[in-house]
Amino acid sequence: MIRVENLHRHFGSFRAVDGVSLTIRQGSITGLIGPNGAGKSTLFNVLAGRLPPTSGKVMLAGEDVTGLPPHALYAKGLLRTFQIAHEFGSMTVRENLMMVPPQAGESLWATWFQRGRIAKDERRLRDKADEVLEFLTISHIADEKAANISGGQKKLVELGRTMMADARIVFLDEVGAGVNRTLLNTIADAIQRLNRERGYTFCVIEHDMDFIGRICDPVIVMAAGRVLAEDTPDNILQNEAVIEAYLGTGRKAGTVNV
Ligand SMILES: Nc1ncnc2c1ncn2[C@@H]1O[C@H](COP(=O)(O)OP(=O)(O)OP(=O)(O)O)[C@@H](O)[C@H]1O
Ligand SMILES: [Mg+2]
Repeated sequence: MIRVENLHRHFGSFRAVDGVSLTIRQGSITGLIGPNGAGKSTLFNVLAGRLPPTSGKVMLAGEDVTGLPPHALYAKGLLRTFQIAHEFGSMTVRENLMMVPPQAGESLWATWFQRGRIAKDERRLRDKADEVLEFLTISHIADEKAANISGGQKKLVELGRTMMADARIVFLDEVGAGVNRTLLNTIADAIQRLNRERGYTFCVIEHDMDFIGRICDPVIVMAAGRVLAEDTPDNILQNEAVIEAYLGTGRKAGTVNV
């Protein structure tokens, strides 16, 4: 679904992404791991159109999308998670879902300013938001103010926002950071169900190796701006180069804690 060819993103003379080539298979949940500063988030930012690449190519479903801005990629169904903007904290969870701009082809302004359509669209959006909340098993927080929900619930609402936009491919950067075990399991389940039942493709950055091992295949490892390895989660943990990148030589794979 995504093919990255010899991608570079430099900051001055520093090569944060230094010649990355990889593919994200349609229908996969691809993990992206690597030590702090490996260039994972920078790569995501380039893929999501938030940073132009220094050089290289990004193909989406056979189309060259290199350097396209986020809204153009959004229209093609390629999304990063939407963080809940600070100013939306006083709105309810359901309203936050309803605020997601319509997907490709539908103009936001046309939709919202054609008077007769407003009520109908609002009902449609509301039904869709409720369906999304049910899918994510968080219907009980529909009327909570977004500012009052927990960090883990916010991550689920962010996932919900990608569902509102009918995404085809979703990038999640450290979705598990600061989230408790129970909610992390709910998030893992939601990702797997979206993948299996709705055909979403995911690329997931996460430091929690249990989480990665449970839902991702394949796992791509980055270090110092380059791809070091790509394999199944089990094999990645046995990979000498990967262990070395994290810990230096002479440590057992079982002790890898990324
Ligand atoms: N805007 C920027 N200007 C200069 N350097 C940057 C910029 N963004 C990132 N970097 C540098 O690029 C390197 C890669 O950063 P990046 O955030 O992509 O790493 P990461 O793999 O996501 O790390 P982490 O696991 O800690 O989130 C780091 O050394 C970082 O300091
Ligand atoms: Mg990062």
